Amino acid sequence: MGVEVKVEGLTKSFGSQNIWRDVSLALPAGEVSALLGPSGTGKSVFLKTLIGLLHPEQGSVVIDGTDITECSAKELYEIRKLFGVLFQDGALFGSMTLYDNIAFPLREHTKKKEDEIRRIVMEKVELVGLAGAEGKLPGEISGGMRKRAGLARALVLDPEIILCDEPDSGLDPVRTAYISQLLIDINAEIDATILIVTHNINIARTIPDNIGMLFRKELVMFGPREQLLTSDQPVVKQFLSGDRFGPIGMSEEKDDATAAEEAKMQAAGISGGGTKDDFSEIIPQVQPNPNMPVRKAAIRHRANVLSMLPSLPPGAQEAIRNSIAEEDARGAELPDSNATLVALAATDFSSADSIAQAQAQATTQVIDRPTDVIDTPTEVMETGGDEAHTEPIDTSAIERNVNRDESDGQGSNQA
Ligand SMILES: Nc1ncnc2c1ncn2[C@@H]1O[C@H](COP(=O)(O)OP(=O)(O)OP(=O)(O)O)[C@@H](O)[C@H]1O
Ligand SMILES: [Mg+2]
Repeated sequence: MGVEVKVEGLTKSFGSQNIWRDVSLALPAGEVSALLGPSGTGKSVFLKTLIGLLHPEQGSVVIDGTDITECSAKELYEIRKLFGVLFQDGALFGSMTLYDNIAFPLREHTKKKEDEIRRIVMEKVELVGLAGAEGKLPGEISGGMRKRAGLARALVLDPEIILCDEPDSGLDPVRTAYISQLLIDINAEIDATILIVTHNINIARTIPDNIGMLFRKELVMFGPREQLLTSDQPVVKQFLSGDRFGPIGMSEEKDDATAAEEAKMQAAGISGGGTKDDFSEIIPQVQPNPNMPVRKAAIRHRANVLSMLPSLPPGAQEAIRNSIAEEDARGAELPDSNATLVALAATDFSSADSIAQAQAQATTQVIDRPTDVIDTPTEVMETGGDEAHTEPIDTSAIERNVNRDESDGQGSNQA
């Protein structure tokens, strides 16, 4: 099973600029979570802090019993082996072909022979729809292709924690749907803990088990997807509908005068451009493909949600009950095409004891991680920078490199 990532009281600033403060959340083991938030609120900074590429001033990030904000470089190195990370720009090595980029973690961290590496690389290349392009350099392909190559590289070691920074950016809607489905299928297959940073409302509505949102330097919410989707908070409603009227402004938050002006425009029937969709109507979560194993996280998630149900707002409670009823009805209707829905419908969640039992069962039947990962390599995995691969201890070098890559928009890692 993927591991829990527990964040407590995390605060990050760059010089005098505070990015966010006192952020606490737990990414439940093996579940899929999404982090939303307006541009510039520090989502990418948060993701980099989770893997120790950026260092917070306060708070803890506990993974597998280790607080990575204060552990040794060697411990951090070990923890990083649990991660597969898709950076916002793909962060590929500009001087290597896609094939070599994707093979890189396997060559660095396993004893696999080249024919086995080829099998795995080509499997991932096909999975992300890049067959035929594996001989190209990152500079010779489109932004969306670079993104998919970055995802393939993040997946080659079957990681226990997968972080994806805007997996959909640069992708057309159909490829976005394929990538979203792929993440759900991977979750069913390897039970990895997944965090997706995204602006894509369709992804937020249909993929994650849990959703969080950063705004005004704080985590305004984190919980089961139904909680955020049914929220009455103006910032959440504005973000979901993509309307310019509301607390989120073009750069900073709006002042009172602007808000009053907007209220007048709205009263006069002027559109803020957003969709008029009712996001509180929960649409079904995407399920694994028919050939996939039961997504055990779905069983644990339902057990978790039922345990916390009384503490949630009434609207979220009702939405969760409706989601459960709808999933169970679909499980009964589609017994051959969806193992997860069938398993959910067959699991007893009727009492606290049965909930605990369901959770325990869903935890024990997991696929083991590959055993041939070398334990004592000397280089850092999957950081996205050439310097990173020669200076594993110096996380500031990695940070500089990854951040520089983001600014050039190419994902090139050439020094
Ligand atoms: N290495 C850095 N040094 C200084 N400031 C930084 C660094 N990295 C990020 N920032 C600042 O932190 C803030 C948050 O940046 P971040 O990239 O996390 O935003 P984001 O929420 O991911 O935005 P987007 O949705 O556009 O990707 C920005 O003001 C950015 O300029
Ligand atoms: Mg970002």
